[in-house]
Amino acid sequence: MNGPSAPPLLAARMAHIAPFEVMEIQTLARQLEAGGRDVIHLEIGEPDFRTPAPVVEAARRALDAVAMNYTSALGIPALREAISAFYRERYRVEVPAGRIVVTAGSSAALLLALGVLLDPGDEVLLADPGYPCNRHFVHALGGVPRLVPVDARSRYQLLAEAAAKAWTARTRIAMVASPSNPTGTMLEPGEVAALAALARERGGTLLVDEIYHGLTYGRDARTALEAGEDVFVINSFSKYFQMTGWRLGWLVAPQAYVREIEKLAQNLYISASTLAQHAALAAFEPATLAIVEERRRELAARRDFLLPALEALGFRIPVKPDGAFYIYADCSRLTQDSFAFAREVLGQAAIALTPGKDFGFHEPGRHIRIAYTQPVARLEKAVARLAAFLGKGS
Ligand SMILES: Cc1ncc(COP(=O)(O)O)c(C=O)c1O
Repeated sequence: MNGPSAPPLLAARMAHIAPFEVMEIQTLARQLEAGGRDVIHLEIGEPDFRTPAPVVEAARRALDAVAMNYTSALGIPALREAISAFYRERYRVEVPAGRIVVTAGSSAALLLALGVLLDPGDEVLLADPGYPCNRHFVHALGGVPRLVPVDARSRYQLLAEAAAKAWTARTRIAMVASPSNPTGTMLEPGEVAALAALARERGGTLLVDEIYHGLTYGRDARTALEAGEDVFVINSFSKYFQMTGWRLGWLVAPQAYVREIEKLAQNLYISASTLAQHAALAAFEPATLAIVEERRRELAARRDFLLPALEALGFRIPVKPDGAFYIYADCSRLTQDSFAFAREVLGQAAIALTPGKDFGFHEPGRHIRIAYTQPVARLEKAVARLAAFLGKGS
């Protein structure tokens, strides 16, 4: 088959922007589904839940009551206040609304934070494996991602010791996610404080992605905002509030950067969705919080079912994930090529998984990400199919 020819005027930076490998798995999955196969989707980074009803109802009301014009690039004041109140109530941390910028998903928050901090050639330290868009954002801004290999010994997190070794004269930012995608592991508050201290000492910045906060099991996450007013934190309505498609997130920045961030947001995309912002006002209401907390318990039950089941099938999971909805499993007892393995599992067992390749360059062939985004009954079916595929059928 002939693919489309190369575009004649492609910017050099595009050579660094990789597609998601999992898209290939998804295309194959759709083909199987078109042929009538029942594919179990454990590859996608969003659970099967609908947006909580109070949020949807608030959106319906807003359509009638509110003019859907642009908002301030910083977000509507009521939502910035509501997020500030959420930090006070949930984390016991005072974050003035003036430091909170409402963004078009945390993706835009990442772009804005990096946009005001990075000059071309500046380096950003990132954990490998990690969320792949981060290194692509850095490339898109002309920066240089420095991927630091992490493994079970540091609970798959970039710790201050490794960051100090990787830090060069060009390093401006250390970027971490807690809980992490793809590993679901968290940084301890002391580890965040050590990273913040390192960044301060070297004249750089710590950027912490807290998008999976609220989806931690057994213990609540503490925010990196405790580590100092110079830390950048991003978060989102996508995961805990199950609003992925509404495209709404936020950035907490040091006060001195807010005006710069506002200018950049005005120019890049004017403002976040007005409808989504009004809907999100209902996210912090007790009725919504009761729904998302119930779903958190459901996700914990899914993890607690799947983790031992995968281990019994021969996957190794050296560090129990604390949160998110991912298990990053070492599949090296079963295969040395997780990409080929994902294709075979899809073809033969009709289960879609994400190969390690999507998350970096450190031992991707030995790892696979399994997203427990389906009910336990579907996970049971997936485990039975995997057992049959691996010749371990009961
Ligand atoms: C670690 C991490 N950060 C950021 C994002 C971006 O999410 P959104 O733009 O929907 O807030 C994702 C999405 O999967 C993610 O996994």
